[in-house]
Amino acid sequence: MSEQIRFFLPGPVHVPAEVLAAMTRPSIGHRSPEFKALYATVAERLPKIFRTSRDVVVVTSSGSLSWDMALRSSLRKDVLCLTNGAFSERFMTVAKACGLDVDQVAMPWGQAIDPDLLRQALRRKKYEAVTLAHNETSTGVLSPLADLAEVVRQESDAMIFVDAVSSMAGAQVETEAWDIDFMFTGSQKALALPPGLALVSVSERFEKLAGEIPARGYYTDVLRYLDNHRKSSTVTTPAVPQVWALDVQLDRLLAEGLENRWQRHWELRRRTEAWADEAGFEYASAADAASPTVSCLKPPADLEAPALVKQLQSQDIVVGGGYGAWKPSTFRIGHMGEVQLSDLTTLFDALDEAVRSLRG
Ligand SMILES: Cc1ncc(COP(=O)(O)O)c(C=O)c1O
Repeated sequence: MSEQIRFFLPGPVHVPAEVLAAMTRPSIGHRSPEFKALYATVAERLPKIFRTSRDVVVVTSSGSLSWDMALRSSLRKDVLCLTNGAFSERFMTVAKACGLDVDQVAMPWGQAIDPDLLRQALRRKKYEAVTLAHNETSTGVLSPLADLAEVVRQESDAMIFVDAVSSMAGAQVETEAWDIDFMFTGSQKALALPPGLALVSVSERFEKLAGEIPARGYYTDVLRYLDNHRKSSTVTTPAVPQVWALDVQLDRLLAEGLENRWQRHWELRRRTEAWADEAGFEYASAADAASPTVSCLKPPADLEAPALVKQLQSQDIVVGGGYGAWKPSTFRIGHMGEVQLSDLTTLFDALDEAVRSLRG
């Protein structure tokens, strides 16, 4: 039986009790045969979630380290950053912090990345890599990754670096079929795990180019992780409890079926759209950029988004506030991970109640 969920942040998300319980097992050494066996079984199943035949490395860090890993491990100079919200912009900030020469294709917040603008940028200049966030958590926007990746392949030999932090396991992600060079996610979003792990997969091309970069750092060096991964081992002391949790959750994910899981996330999105329509709330994101994992909504003019978030807290329901410049005008519902339609019914009853009480 699924648990009643009242926690709808767009990450971290509700974690099932069975998964949490796995984290309370007694300590084991990370160089022990027990850990090797645990790592090996996790490593065997993760590529099914990423849809790749390549390795998916388990890194003890939040998702953000992956930005540095992608950029520091493989690039020398020119990178094109596609931005449409706070997290894709942060990918660009990290590129600048790594000393790279950065060009930007900037979409307005709330819109998906436009493949035509990408094509034009690639025709103007040669880049080593293109970066983007598949799902912009700040605005609830899913960009057309398959189309964007196709444009990169048609127009250039640039690598494609994809932040799938809030799309992996909640939306279709085809790492290998879409020929993505660096694909990563974090544990605390649609995978419905506690925070603490980043999961990373790189293409053969990435691996080869990384081998030619002299100073890849240490914690950021993808090749060091791959070396260890191939021995069912980790570079540093891993967050073993999180890996236990991942082990249990992978079984649950695969039992549901990845495609069923994507489907359920779209149903959650549609249910949210139906409620918003009825209650007079508008999506802050463009209709053709709908995200199956995050809805970013604007309340009717007589209501303030932060007040609504606070009112829900008094009913023991958590949703996300707006992000950055959108903070005063929007709030976000994370309908990802283990959320079921029945949980959304509870949420929307509470939202209706909150609206009534704010209107007095
Ligand atoms: C799209 C996206 N990328 C990256 C991050 C950063 O991940 P973390 O907080 O795990 O470092 C987030 C976090 O919300 C995100 O939503």
